Amino acid sequence: MQKRTRMAAVLGAAALTMTALAHPAMAEQATTAAQQPASRYEALIPAPLEADAHQGPAFELGPHTVIRTQRGSDEARQVGEYLAEQLRPATGYPIKVTDRAADGPSIALLLRGAGTRVGDQGYRLDVNRNEITIRANTGDGLFAGVQTLRQLLPAEIAADSPRAREWSVPAGRVVDAPRFAYRAAMLDIARHFHTPDEIKSYIDQIAHYKINYLHLHLTDDQGWRIEIDSWPRLAPEGGGEGTGVDGVGGGYLTKEDYADLVAYAESRHITIVPEIDMPGHTNAALSVYGELNCDGKPVPPRTDTEVGYSSLCIDLDITYRFVEDVIREIAELTPGPYLHIGGDEAHATPDEDYRAFMQRVLPLVEKYGKRAFGWTEVTKAEPPTSVVPQFWHTNRENASLAEAVARGNKVIMSPANKAYLDMKYDENTQLGLTWAGYIEVKDAYEWDPGSHVSGVGEDAVFGVEAPLWSETLRSLDDIEFMAFPRLPAIAELGWSPAESHDWESFRARLAEEGKRWEAEGVNFYRSPQIDW
Ligand code: ACM
Repeated sequence: MQKRTRMAAVLGAAALTMTALAHPAMAEQATTAAQQPASRYEALIPAPLEADAHQGPAFELGPHTVIRTQRGSDEARQVGEYLAEQLRPATGYPIKVTDRAADGPSIALLLRGAGTRVGDQGYRLDVNRNEITIRANTGDGLFAGVQTLRQLLPAEIAADSPRAREWSVPAGRVVDAPRFAYRAAMLDIARHFHTPDEIKSYIDQIAHYKINYLHLHLTDDQGWRIEIDSWPRLAPEGGGEGTGVDGVGGGYLTKEDYADLVAYAESRHITIVPEIDMPGHTNAALSVYGELNCDGKPVPPRTDTEVGYSSLCIDLDITYRFVEDVIREIAELTPGPYLHIGGDEAHATPDEDYRAFMQRVLPLVEKYGKRAFGWTEVTKAEPPTSVVPQFWHTNRENASLAEAVARGNKVIMSPANKAYLDMKYDENTQLGLTWAGYIEVKDAYEWDPGSHVSGVGEDAVFGVEAPLWSETLRSLDDIEFMAFPRLPAIAELGWSPAESHDWESFRARLAEEGKRWEAEGVNFYRSPQIDW
């Protein structure tokens, strides 16, 4: 009860600020109020479990500030180095990282004293004039606390060169832990290839909102974007120049690129979930290796955006040799526990064949030590309860999914009409698609993953994911425009307590976040729903 009361008070204050902004006579007062240090505890995205501003003086980040990390912990040290990298460019301060006692102002990152309430992903953060302390039970928790700290600093902290100003963190306290353990973004690098540097930039951005998984859609009808040694022509031919939608661009990740991305994501406490889509969405593979087709002949490559026309040949033994080789090699590249086998829109595969295929393929994922994810349709195969269906449809009733949940499967929630970042915001949006409708920021925010689909209650939700399909997206600017501000909306649904959900509060907090995106040069959509 106490938790709710405090959260309600925090959100109530944000709502009050918004009311004031709506009335010109109160605007000046509201602006002043918004600049009060205390308001930074009200501006956090995702909203924390508990946050209180205190009356005392702020912590002033200065040229002598050091980051002191848990003695003997490499993990804490790495989070400390990451934080220092975030703070140095805009402040111009050296920001040393040490695991020794520091005399002078310090930011302490400690792996003790956090308590059980924050679990294995949460943290507690305390700020007074002398010290900032982040305590957690794990490196993941420390990293989440560091993201909160970055938001408690002035927005200019996101700038990439020194800004002459004070860097204060208002006194206060946060106790925080996520609603769902799995909070993900998905990036489609098959429709248009996105380079490792672009993917890293997106990783940096999503990490800021406590997203902890990045699902990479690696293969589709247009392109095959990951090197596979045992089928060596797949990537160079299936992912070559001209294999992007409309023949624009192309490319693929070598195994070295992929391993480097996995390590980079890990440094941001993000686990990559690779997806190889099958048995549909496989035209690229079928165009390179003729023997994968039922008639033994390669199909022509395609770069249009039709879906549902391709299928691996269910009756051929070579299909399962191919699938096993690919799953084995992808599993070897994947330190994380999950491997996504797609399974969506297999309209060219009769239901009976689809079930036969999945019943042979799902055990292969397990054989190579991974837990399988699949899009909603995977439930047609009545998969074992270890398999996690990812709900992407636009209706709120799905009998096959509800039956899977009744059997014990957990579900990732990505309803296309809410969570798909590639839908246009409105009729004026240049990029994106419309098949699931327009999704303005409020639409992306106003739904509840724990009660969205009949028969899929809170306990059945494995997590929340925001997919970004790239038929129309070619550049990092394009990605950013579609993801921001909707990605933070989905991130909040994954992290924040359901009872803190409040659109007026969220839109007020987004307005603050816009200043950060401006300082950082993020190409975000200036939605008319937000008072930027
Ligand atoms: C999907 O959007 N076809 C998963």
